[in-house]
Amino acid sequence: MYDFDMFVDPALLQDPHERVRELLRDAPPVFWTPRNGGHWVVTGFRENYDASRDFETFSSEIYPRPMMDGMRAMLAQQIGHVPLPTPINLDPPDHTKFRRPLQLAFSPKAMLARKEEVRNLANSLIDAVIEQGHCDFVPDIAEPLPVQVFLKMMGLPLERSAEFRDLVHEFMSPPDTELAPIYRMRKVANAMKGEIEARRTDPKDDLLSLLWTSEFDGEPMTFELMEDYAVLLFIAGLDTVINGMGFGVRHLAQNPAFQEELRANPKRIPEAAEELLRRYTFTVPTRRIAKDVEFAGVEMKDGDRLMLFLPGADLDQREFAKPEAFDIDRENNVHIAFGAGPHRCLGSHLARIELQVLYEQMLARLPTFRLDDAKPTVFHAGNIIAIDSLPLRWD
Ligand code: HEM
Repeated sequence: MYDFDMFVDPALLQDPHERVRELLRDAPPVFWTPRNGGHWVVTGFRENYDASRDFETFSSEIYPRPMMDGMRAMLAQQIGHVPLPTPINLDPPDHTKFRRPLQLAFSPKAMLARKEEVRNLANSLIDAVIEQGHCDFVPDIAEPLPVQVFLKMMGLPLERSAEFRDLVHEFMSPPDTELAPIYRMRKVANAMKGEIEARRTDPKDDLLSLLWTSEFDGEPMTFELMEDYAVLLFIAGLDTVINGMGFGVRHLAQNPAFQEELRANPKRIPEAAEELLRRYTFTVPTRRIAKDVEFAGVEMKDGDRLMLFLPGADLDQREFAKPEAFDIDRENNVHIAFGAGPHRCLGSHLARIELQVLYEQMLARLPTFRLDDAKPTVFHAGNIIAIDSLPLRWD
């Protein structure tokens, strides 16, 4: 037992990964916290890896299926189809079936083809701030970049960028009611409804059109399932990249000598991007215990909730030598920032391209940048450890 509130722990909001290190020192690798209704927290690397792969015990169906079906049926009368991010909320074998159509779309080759487009978008955002000598990196660059990449991929017009950034903001803010996440998902689906409908009969070269061609055991795609996929891609691909960029650029801003090293040797940026993901891992996926089990020496009960606290896993000294050191030459750099097991991130190739290209362009175009001493960096926490504001300055 260890008292830890993953949403409002003051030290986590002050300096997130320092608090993660403290957690690894002070608490066991698997512990129960009474906060937020009571749940397990898994911080060890091996424990996260094992739990992520054992989907029969650690289910991604956060509510048992009959309960979820009932909730969907009840809410359908009020708001229509309740989009469920698919396949992240399913366990195999259904998960395997519904993951397949995305696998092709997110292949390394398909993503590499988007690299120059990402670079152009990054450059246009840097253009907008370069002369002024300062920016708030999160709203000025980290948010609009993945939003624009997402709009392009989905085949939605870039002119809708502001609208989608507002949706991301709303989605990321703490829920004010229990049903808020569901209403927000409906709102995201509504924003794409027209385009989803249009692509059914008028396909283009985009992800929505590609998804419409999917079949499942001989059954065609449905409109409802298209909404489920669209909402998943919105949730999985925006908030994550925004914060990955935030932590990466914060580290660069705090380490001018490292900026110089990379400017002199930009070929090392992909390795740097990888070590930044390990050192500042920030996602915390949820699982439901699907049967009574003894795991890592503790008894867990059917129905308990569990958090895969991946930021802890990647700072676990049992797995990484001197985990707190930022070292792009480390021998073992196989981190778990993208998860493990059947749900391992489908967007990792795209995420890596977005991160690498952003670092390349920031380093190539801006002089040495630093944190703005006059303004604080602001964090929030939960299933993602997030940066809301990152004020930067350069001369
Ligand atoms: C640095 C950025 C990113 C990080 C750290 C990240 C991390 C993760 C993690 C940890 C999972 C596993 C969740 C679980 O086990 O429940 C996951 C799943 C997923 N991610 Fe990412 N992600 C990132 C970017 C993206 C992007 C850009 C996309 C696509 C647009 C994406 C699409 C997905 C999808 C579709 C899944 C679900 C896969 C499944 O359930 O089979 N992610 N991501």
